Amino acid sequence: MLTKYLCKNIIALVFLLLPIDLISQNISRNIFPSVIGPYVQMTGTDHSYIYWAELSHTIKKGNSLDSLNTIVPVYVHKQHYLMPPIKSFLAGKRKIAYKISGIGSGELKLAPKSRETSVKFAVFGDNKSWHTNYEGSDEKYRKLISLLIKKEPEFVVNTGDLVFEGRDYRDWVTFFNIGKPLMKNVPYFPVIGNHEESSKPLFDFFKFPDNRSYYSFNWGPIHFIVLNSSGMEARVERRQLPQTEWKEFLEQFNDTVELPFFRQQLSWLQSDLEQHKDFPFIFVSFHYPVFNTLNREFENEDIIQNDWLPLFKQHQVSAVFNGHNHHYHHALKDGIHYIITAGAGAGIYERSGSKVEHEVMYSEENHFVLASASPENCRFEILKLNNQLIESFTIQKRK
Ligand SMILES: [Fe+2]
Repeated sequence: MLTKYLCKNIIALVFLLLPIDLISQNISRNIFPSVIGPYVQMTGTDHSYIYWAELSHTIKKGNSLDSLNTIVPVYVHKQHYLMPPIKSFLAGKRKIAYKISGIGSGELKLAPKSRETSVKFAVFGDNKSWHTNYEGSDEKYRKLISLLIKKEPEFVVNTGDLVFEGRDYRDWVTFFNIGKPLMKNVPYFPVIGNHEESSKPLFDFFKFPDNRSYYSFNWGPIHFIVLNSSGMEARVERRQLPQTEWKEFLEQFNDTVELPFFRQQLSWLQSDLEQHKDFPFIFVSFHYPVFNTLNREFENEDIIQNDWLPLFKQHQVSAVFNGHNHHYHHALKDGIHYIITAGAGAGIYERSGSKVEHEVMYSEENHFVLASASPENCRFEILKLNNQLIESFTIQKRK
């Protein structure tokens, strides 16, 4: 585990050496909007959470009052617990509209009360919004959002790496700017990737039940589980120390924070799977892939393979959605579909190494997964950003 920490995410280490400190230097124009949102968060059968953020003030800092060249925005994060009008709720209507004065408006669908209701949702990941628009990632993600809106999903799941740098507000501003036309109307469920880890803005912007980075929700015939494969964030603490002390710090961090975190998450996963074993479909999502298509290691692979996979098999989950390796990959093993969907904007990676065992399909195209589930089966369409099909397949409900 220690080696993995030290090898972890070269880009993140490069950032450690840069004077990024939330917002880097030489910003002379105001790039921070006065309002971010509104956008729809955790949604159930009788409520939804609407989130937005209002700019309170900015703080400028530098080495002297003559060189205040770093700007940090301070947002006040707000939320509204939205309940449907009682008459429409009793009449079985799922649609609610909302308008927040001076902020914005939207229309959303609540989760169905019955598991017999057919539903539609989408999964994608690694848009990696970055204020520099690196490799044209913004245009690709904007195109994806625009096509996705036409497909009318009831909720979406992002398999992680929502932004390039989780501590940089400029990246979050870009992320919400592109995503807003979808996010104001459609619940957006995030999976934690290694580029946001447990950064403060992530937890400020999104609702995590009990402030836990792993959670689950129900939507008609579907039980959806979101896990945190990245673990806990140690970068901020580590950067305070000289490099010679990193090894000792990380050993201690691993024993006292990381391992207890994964033990707790495993115990929660066991209990969550047990409690929802009657659902027709169980889907699981976490960032790091189960079947690695690249010749590079990632952290916590042993936990995924040794602790989680046996549980997925034991409970016959329907499919697992991962991100991180920027392309599309579909493997099928023991009746479980393992999907890497990491083509929502960031530059595509060419595969390295030999073909992965149990492979069904592989594509180096930007894409998203669109799923339509009835109580009996669930049809998946993997679509390029020009609406062309990469593949489609249908799975049957769990036995
Ligand atoms: Fe990643």
